[in-house]
Amino acid sequence: MKALILSGGKGTRLRPITYTGAKQLIPVANKPILFYGIEAIKEAGIDDFGIIVGDTKEEIRKAVGDGSRWGIKVTYIEQKEPLGLAHAVKIAEDYLRDAPFIMYLGDNILKEGVKEFVQKFKDKKPNALILLTPVPNPQSFGVAELDQEHRVKRLVEKPKKPKSNLALVGVYLFDKNIFKATKAIKPSWRNELEITDAIQWLLDEGYIVESHRVTGWWKDTGKPEDVLSANRLILESMERSIEGEIIESRIEGRVVVKEGAKIIRSVVRGPVIIGENTKIIDSYIGPFTSINSEVIVEESEIENSIVMNKSLIKNMKKRIDESLIGREVKIFASSRKPMVNRFILGERSQMEVFQ
Ligand code: TTP
Repeated sequence: MKALILSGGKGTRLRPITYTGAKQLIPVANKPILFYGIEAIKEAGIDDFGIIVGDTKEEIRKAVGDGSRWGIKVTYIEQKEPLGLAHAVKIAEDYLRDAPFIMYLGDNILKEGVKEFVQKFKDKKPNALILLTPVPNPQSFGVAELDQEHRVKRLVEKPKKPKSNLALVGVYLFDKNIFKATKAIKPSWRNELEITDAIQWLLDEGYIVESHRVTGWWKDTGKPEDVLSANRLILESMERSIEGEIIESRIEGRVVVKEGAKIIRSVVRGPVIIGENTKIIDSYIGPFTSINSEVIVEESEIENSIVMNKSLIKNMKKRIDESLIGREVKIFASSRKPMVNRFILGERSQMEVFQ
């Protein structure tokens, strides 16, 4: 089997972070989201990967390389414009050829991985196997209607009156018949070739589409709150490990402190990860926070947040919460007169200041 990971797209809902970087490389518990997918697929025994890339192709290539780090082979497939998930499958035909494949959205994370899902596909050999999960708001998702044998009867995109609460998760298994579907369907109202339409075409033509239920959590990290929620879920499953230096500090619970990091006169309450060569000085780092490498946090309090590489947070005594802070960002309070707020913020930055 082969794997097709979709790592193109625009990531408009994660601006301004995605103005300068690929959303699939946003770190969750200090590891790019995309790497969780690669590792889950490799664990299921697949080592031939095609990665769909768009505007951020250079960055994705730099991060993933030739895949040798995971013992996989990577072929990059360029998608000139994000014309839909089924369009990505269509342009990957030359790479995939006759091989059955797993299609994985590069911004999704699944707790249980994909091993069981892939095994079911190999055992039952349907034409497609889709992954479903119950959601409280099926109106916002692609929703599946099933028959008594759990075969899929119909897929409806964002139904007003959903017939089930089973949403499609961003992981799919297909055999080569999906290419017929991607050629037969037409772009939707948003001018994209929709994967739900392609699967519906398979159903209409009498192909067998089976479903599999996700038992653990699943996160589509499309929006900042989803990224923070994925961060919380991953941090929750981490083990304590302290490699850095702890000086006159209290480290409580599941905390990872990487090599070269220094925690000085501070309190760190897990689950928390502190990256390499980061310094935490006279500060409080609260639960569900991931601080990447070479960051400085001084005289500040932060929790339930992600801070990317080389940023500086200083003298922020009002606690920072629920924040997604990019690379090389500086946030600091000063006691200089006049007492003013001074901002140098790029397009679509967001600041919420407590008065
Ligand atoms: P989406 O989250 O649906 O789209 P997007 O990344 O463009 O984000 P936004 O809606 O905020 O602008 O995409 C899901 C995944 O699939 C994501 O990893 C990007 C990828 N993708 C492609 O590779 N090609 C495409 O044509 C599309 C639509 C998405």
